[in-house]
Amino acid sequence: MQIFRTQDYQAMSRKAANIISAQVIINPSSVLGLATGSTPLGIYRQLIDWYNKGDLDFSKAYSVNLDEYVGLSPDHEQSYHYYMNENFFSHVNFAEGHNYLPDGMAKDIDAECARYDKLISDLGGISLQLLGIGHTGHIGFNEPNAAFDKMTHAVDLHPKTIEANARFFASPDEVPKQAITMGIKSIMQAKQILLVANGAEKAEILYESLFGPVTPAVPASILQLHPNVTVVADEAALSVIMQHHSEAVSR
Ligand code: F6R
Repeated sequence: MQIFRTQDYQAMSRKAANIISAQVIINPSSVLGLATGSTPLGIYRQLIDWYNKGDLDFSKAYSVNLDEYVGLSPDHEQSYHYYMNENFFSHVNFAEGHNYLPDGMAKDIDAECARYDKLISDLGGISLQLLGIGHTGHIGFNEPNAAFDKMTHAVDLHPKTIEANARFFASPDEVPKQAITMGIKSIMQAKQILLVANGAEKAEILYESLFGPVTPAVPASILQLHPNVTVVADEAALSVIMQHHSEAVSR
């Protein structure tokens, strides 16, 4: 595992975007595993910037996202389809039909999960998976005590997640109660993993995930067993790791 420490969020975004760019330049038909949330927004902005300067070409690349809410259509502003289109896809030149997310509107959710796993496998697997980390140590929607051996599956959202999301919806009934997520096993099958984190509120969980015991109680701890993980985090997110394992961190 390689851990890079950057001064701030912008530098974290630039460094992570560099790793993704290198992947696409070395292998233009890469399959990029992508994430939503607040952490990757700066990465997407940086990639768009380089694309606009003519330095990047996504025309042969593919993307598969980690997760999507059940019951939200792609044009719902809170759906991850919408987020990805708004923040990345509509600004760069992926070919039509090369961007995939789980279909949260599927009638048969189990069949949709199986379809998504097959799709990833038919694409030849994920070349590089981008991950953020939740305060609980979740990756994708794999919350503490999720089984390590799951592929794509449906999860019930934690009541705290539902409560936190309520502010984005007109009424509490509209808040999704379930999501489809790649499982820990799907994530671990990616050839390379890029974990990004910023801010002091991620410092403790990042330390536990990367240096604590490997346990389903901290889902991201499984990443210690992946052969090719790069972590890019800002000083604030690495503050606890720097106290205990500064030798493991590169600039
Ligand atoms: C997003 C995802 C989540 C987030 C995590 C961190 O697709 O699967 O695991 O990466 O919740 O979110 P932020 O970046 O908002 O702190």
